[in-house]
Amino acid sequence: MTAGLHALLAGFRPGFALQGGFYADPTIYEAEIGAIFLRSWLYVGHQSQVPRAGDWFLHEIAGESVIVVRGADGAINALLNVCRHRGSRVCVAASGHDSRLVCRYHGWTYGLDGSLRAAAHLSQSVAKGDYGLRRLHVRLLEGLVFINFAADPPPFDELAADMAAPLAPYALGKAKVAHRQNYPIAANWKLTVENYCECYHCGPAHPEYSVAHGRAVPPAEFEAELRQVMARAPDAGLTQHVVRRSWLDAGRLGIERGFDRYPLFHGQLSGSRDGQPVAPLLGTIRAFDGGTTDLHLGATTFGLAYCDHVVLYRFTPRGQHATDCEITWLVNESAVEGRDYNLADLTWLWDVTTIADKTIIERNQEGVASRWYVPGPLSEMEAFTAAFLDWYIAALRAATAAPAG
Ligand code: FES
Ligand SMILES: [Fe+2]
Repeated sequence: MTAGLHALLAGFRPGFALQGGFYADPTIYEAEIGAIFLRSWLYVGHQSQVPRAGDWFLHEIAGESVIVVRGADGAINALLNVCRHRGSRVCVAASGHDSRLVCRYHGWTYGLDGSLRAAAHLSQSVAKGDYGLRRLHVRLLEGLVFINFAADPPPFDELAADMAAPLAPYALGKAKVAHRQNYPIAANWKLTVENYCECYHCGPAHPEYSVAHGRAVPPAEFEAELRQVMARAPDAGLTQHVVRRSWLDAGRLGIERGFDRYPLFHGQLSGSRDGQPVAPLLGTIRAFDGGTTDLHLGATTFGLAYCDHVVLYRFTPRGQHATDCEITWLVNESAVEGRDYNLADLTWLWDVTTIADKTIIERNQEGVASRWYVPGPLSEMEAFTAAFLDWYIAALRAATAAPAG
């Protein structure tokens, strides 16, 4: 552990913002990539992005490139996009369709499972079986594709077990991507997650969102609205289990996985400009219950599940001071654009909200870079941001305390 990292970790105060060095020190960024992004399960996309054998797309993070491809057997594979000959990228477009993956440098040809199938002018003594593309671990959860770079990754089953029930009514395995959009943010990735995890800023920054969302209401009013949502849940096809509030349950659920269903205000039914539905009901949901569910699907992937659409947020570092915020809008796979939904209405709320977030996060980045920035105390409305920072510090401490090798 470097002296800078050691001093920063030692100086962390729970309940306070992070010291500026956490955003500025290059050794911190490198430690985070190794400790978090190359060890955690990462959401990379939805299975509908690769419907046919041979369909693929690239997922890029931390200088690595991964080919997410549907194999001939129907399974989704994740292959490191590094040729086993002399290391060229194999696939170079953002997505494509091929029956074989061919490296354009010298023509080595791989199957959709990554196995080396052909390599011209190579000695017969070379065992092709030893030169397949490196395969990464892949798991599916309700149609959502997760990968893990680690040779021996942490178990996926905890995420799957805890999140299967709250996700089930939306049947995301029978959903499709209606739209994806990337919002590049000129800020450290932690600032984007810290911001996502609190709604202290929602009143000042998000007038559109705050019409129907946000928790800055008297507790009694909030509880009364929540009771109504829970009472409507069974008729809507949402079980009591799915509407329980377990966002900050200590221990089992938390930063890496969790959910919380809460009421939309003023009789709104969905996350839209006028609160009215913007797409057909998802999955087994039979009616609008007046609620929405926050989802945590890993420390850098979040979601909002409305009865008619699901919005997924993924934050990916692109450097120490650059983060991609990619939003995916999922709707029922049978919905037809132009007939059952239109993109302008579907995407309006989270587009306008994310554009505002980009602005406030970038101002935050500029401020924490000041020589005189001193971390301040977090408010009651930033409990989840505090929990994220606690989790982050623990992850870094655990990784840097581990023996090398
Ligand atoms: S580097 Fe790929 S075939 Fe040579
Ligand atoms: Fe925001």
